Amino acid sequence: MHTVDLIMKKREGHALTQEEIKYIIENYTKGNIPDYQISALLMAIYFKGMNDEEAKNLANAMAHSGDMIDLSLIDGIKVDKHSTGGVGDKVTLILGPLLASLGVKFAKMSGRGLGHTGGTIDKLESIPGYKVELKVEDFIKQVKDIGIAIVGQSGDVAPADKKLYALRDVTATVDIIPLIASSIMSKKLASGADAIVLDVKVGHGAFMKTEEEAEKLAKLMVEIGRLSGRKMTAILTGMDEPLGHKIGNGLEVYEAIETLHGRGPKDLVDVTVEIGAHLLGDANIEKDFNRAKTLLHDALHDGRAFNKFLEVVKAQGGDLDVLSHPEKLLSKKLEYVYAESSGYIEEMNALEIGKAAMRLGAGRETKEDQIYMEVGIDLHQKIGSYVEKGDVLATLYVRDKGVDEAKRLILNALSIGKEKRDIELIKKTIK
Ligand code: URA
Repeated sequence: MHTVDLIMKKREGHALTQEEIKYIIENYTKGNIPDYQISALLMAIYFKGMNDEEAKNLANAMAHSGDMIDLSLIDGIKVDKHSTGGVGDKVTLILGPLLASLGVKFAKMSGRGLGHTGGTIDKLESIPGYKVELKVEDFIKQVKDIGIAIVGQSGDVAPADKKLYALRDVTATVDIIPLIASSIMSKKLASGADAIVLDVKVGHGAFMKTEEEAEKLAKLMVEIGRLSGRKMTAILTGMDEPLGHKIGNGLEVYEAIETLHGRGPKDLVDVTVEIGAHLLGDANIEKDFNRAKTLLHDALHDGRAFNKFLEVVKAQGGDLDVLSHPEKLLSKKLEYVYAESSGYIEEMNALEIGKAAMRLGAGRETKEDQIYMEVGIDLHQKIGSYVEKGDVLATLYVRDKGVDEAKRLILNALSIGKEKRDIELIKKTIK
C-alpha cells in the first residue's frame, strides 16, 4: 500500500477500507508516514468527508494504537462519561462519587483543559496532594476497592490520536465531525468502560454551535460505540451560559462540594442527575428513569455522595481538610463586575466568560501555560435573572493578571434587556 494512493483515493471522494485506515494509523504512529502526507489526507477528509464505517474503523485503529485498558478484573458493569467540553462543567467531580455511592463502578480517565474550557484533572489538582497519575494496576485496584478512581490518562492510551490531534490543530482540520467523533471515541474505547454517556454541548461556549451539528456528532459517536459493543447514550445539553455559577479550578471544586452536600445550582444538578440516571439503568441498578433520578437526588442530600468523594480524595492522596474548608481553595484577592443597566439577563456568552477566566489564569492558551488554581469567576446571575444597575454581576477571584480584560469580557458577554428568557438545558437524548 502507498500513502500517496490513499490520499488520492480520498481526494477523489472514495471511502477508505478498514485495512487502508489501519495501515495509515499504524504507520503514522510508528513514524513511517510523514506529517506532510497526513496533513494532505486530513485536508482531503475535510473536503470529502468520511462515512460512518470509516469513522468507526478510524476510532478502532486509533484505540488499538496503544494500551487497551482491561477492566475485566473489576466485577460488574464499568461506566464512563464524557463531555465535549464546556465552561463551568464540573459534572464529573459530582457524578463519579454520586454513582459510586450507589454501587456503580466509575473508572474515569480524564483530560486537562486547553483554551476556554477546563479539564477535570486540573480541577482535581487544585486539591493539595491529589495524585492524578496512577499506574493502571493501581487504578483498577482502587475501582475494585472503593468503586471509583478519577485519574489522568494512564498508560499509553490512543497515542495515534494524540499525534493526529496535534497535527489537526495546526492544519485547520479540527472541526470535522467524523474526526472529532473518532478522536473522542478512540480514547473511550481504549479506556475499557462497558457503558458510556456522552454529554454533547451545544451553544456559543461549545465545539458544536448548532443543535443540528451536535446531533450529527452525537449520533455518530453512539454508533461507533455501539458497533464496538458498548452501551451508549448521548444527551445534547445547552452551553449558552456556563454550567452552574463558578468557573476556575478551585472554584469548581468548591461548587462540586456544595452540590455533593445537596446545595448545588439547579442546572448543574439537572445535568448530573440526567447522566447519572442513564448510567444507573445501564449498570442494572435502577432501570426506571424517574426512580433512578430519585435515588440520585437522595444520595446528594443524605451525605452518601459527599462521603464517597472524601473516600476517593483520600485514596488518591488529597488533603481532606480543604474539603471541609473549601474557601481555602480560593484567592483572597477579589474584584467585582457591576451591572451597567437594569433589566433581565438575556445573554451570557459562555465562550467569552470562559476566555475571561483564562485571562485571569484559570486556563491555558497553550499547553505550556501555567495555571493558577485559586483564580476564577463566580457569576451571581443566570440568564433570566433580573438585575438593577449597580448590582454585582460577578465576583472575580484574582491574582496578578488579566483583571481589566476579564471585566471587559464579562460585560461584553452579558446582555441586559426587557425580555425574561428561558433556556432549554437538556435538549435531546440519543440512544
Ligand atoms: N476532543 C477530542 O478529544 N478530540 C477532538 O477531535 C475534538 C475534541
